[in-house]
Formats: sequence, C-alpha cells, structure tokens
Amino acid sequence: MRIILVGYGVVGKGVTTILAKRYTEKIASYGFSPKVVAIADVDGAVINPRGFSPEKLEKFKQKGYPISADPDFGHPSMPVLEVIESVEAEVVVEVTPVNIKNAEPALSYITKAFKTGKHVVTTNKGPLALAMPALTELAEHNNVFLRFSGTVGGGTPMLEFAKRCLAGDKILAIQGILNGTTNYILSEMGQSHISFQEALANAQKLGYAEREPSMDIDGFDTACKTVILSNWIMGKKITLKEVDITGIREVTLEMLQNAAKNRNTIKLLGTIDDNGAIVKPAEVSWTNPLCVSGVLNAVTFQTEYSADQTLIGRGAGGIETANAVLRDLLDIRHKLASKLLS
Ligand code: HSE
Repeated sequence: MRIILVGYGVVGKGVTTILAKRYTEKIASYGFSPKVVAIADVDGAVINPRGFSPEKLEKFKQKGYPISADPDFGHPSMPVLEVIESVEAEVVVEVTPVNIKNAEPALSYITKAFKTGKHVVTTNKGPLALAMPALTELAEHNNVFLRFSGTVGGGTPMLEFAKRCLAGDKILAIQGILNGTTNYILSEMGQSHISFQEALANAQKLGYAEREPSMDIDGFDTACKTVILSNWIMGKKITLKEVDITGIREVTLEMLQNAAKNRNTIKLLGTIDDNGAIVKPAEVSWTNPLCVSGVLNAVTFQTEYSADQTLIGRGAGGIETANAVLRDLLDIRHKLASKLLS
C-alpha cells in the first residue's frame, strides 16, 4: 500500500514512527506492507516512488523542518495538490491542522485525492464537520474509502466500537465527554477549587489547551466530534451549523461546588438523540461511568438491546492519533482484500 502523507506536524511524525515501528513488530504478518512514497506539507515535499525506509523516515524527523530541503528526495515549494495529483499511491493520509471556518486546505486535499482515485485517511475534523455528507457521497462516487478514526476519541476506538461491536444492536442515543482540554479544566476547578481562568492557564502550561483555546473551551471541538458521531453512527446528514453549542466559559467554581453537594459534577457533554445534536455543560453524577477526570474522554452509547455501553480512553495525543491512522489503513487494506475475494 503506497501512502502519501500530507501534514508533517506532531501527528504526521507520529504516523511515520508508528508505521516504521509496528511494521517491523507485527504489521508485516498481516500481509500489510505500507510504503510512504511522499510526505508533503506547506513548504514542499519529499518523494520516493519506491517508498522511504524506516531509517530514512527517522532521519527526516531528526533533521527537522523543512522536510523538502532533503538533498536526495526534496521538492521545495511543490504544492501539496500537485503531490497528490502526480504521485502514484493508493492512500492519502491527511493530518493537517483543523480549520472550522472553511475546512481548507484539507478539504481541497481530500477532494483531490478522491478525484485521482485515492483512498483517504484523515484526522482532520474540519472537513468532516463542515461537509461530511458531501464528502462521504464523493468518496462513494469515486469508489474510494474515507476513514477518520482519529477524529473522535484519538487513540480510543469510539467510532469502530459503535460501528462494529454494536453492529447488531440499535443505538438510540450517544452522550460523551469528547474534549480532553475542557475535561481537564472542569476537573481541576472541581478538585483543586480554582477558577476557570486559573485552570485554563494550567491547561495551557501543560500544553493541553491551545494558546487561542476557543476551539476547545467554546465547545467547537466537541461539536465537530458530535457531527462525526451523528453522521457515521446514527446515519444523520448534519454539519456543524446544526449543532446547538455552548462552551464552558460560564461555568463557575460556585456552580461546581453546588453540584458537588448533590454528588454531581459538571462536564461538557456532546449529546445526540431524537432532539438533535447539542453541546453544553451539564451536571453528571459522580457514579455515572461518564464521570472521568483529567484529559480522559468517555462516551456512552445507549442501545436498544444491551443497555448503556461506555468506552473510556485518551482522546488526544500525537502517537495515539497516529495509531488511529494505522487502524484505518488496516481497515482499508482489509476492505480492499475482501473486494478482491468477492
Ligand atoms: N483539543 C482536543 C482535546 C484534542 O483537548 O480533546 C484533539 O481532538
């Protein structure tokens, strides 16, 4: 399987690390032979139609930025769209930064990949939050797969759990803590009795929240994940503008202390049910399995036949998200192999 990696930040580097490591450990025994034939980012690309060796991928990481300066394989200033169009590959792994205003440039990268017959694995919530129904249709139209396991739950396989393990059941509703940064802030406020501003500053110091943390604390990140769950698991066709979103800026220490008197706390929840999709802070009982602390994520699938099923795990992190990319690549490989057999 030839791969074009688009985006070479924390997740992109994690993808090359995990492909190299897991390849030698185990993947080869699944009959899966991934080859990174190009890495492209805003400054240009490196291209090797034979695939980069694990050692070369490691060297790229050590040398640092910009990757296109490599004397043997570098193509400085080569536009990403040209790389996707001209390099022969089966899959584009798209791991560029999120943009929820217009989803660019990732949206153009993904559509270019589809139009040139390439499957796409993305960890980017922007294009899915803004255009998921259109993108899934376009993938089908071009007879390629679109996978995005890393967009919800990071390394924790929330989408796969619901899609595969609960396949025989009917999912009636979904509710989850889908953002680690806000969960850390609310947990810190409740447990260390500090203000929202202090907890946010701690989250920034620890590198959880962005310097401009609106995506997390105003609920947009949770809302993007809610859109993806709604469409992929509940069969809806919604985009971000259909989600009713309230973030955690207005949650005070006093509100958390009052909730604690009833053995509750306050969490930022993404909920999908018959009433639609909503993101807002709400009281959750200490005994609810969703009541996880720190940067953990948790999601409960309310099902018709097997009651509530809750999955808990780390929802972010470069290597965790890169692991989700590998999961998607294996899934595509499996689907392609089944197609050949049928
Ligand atoms: N900023 C997100 C979080 C991580 O805090 O959970 C990426 O989804």
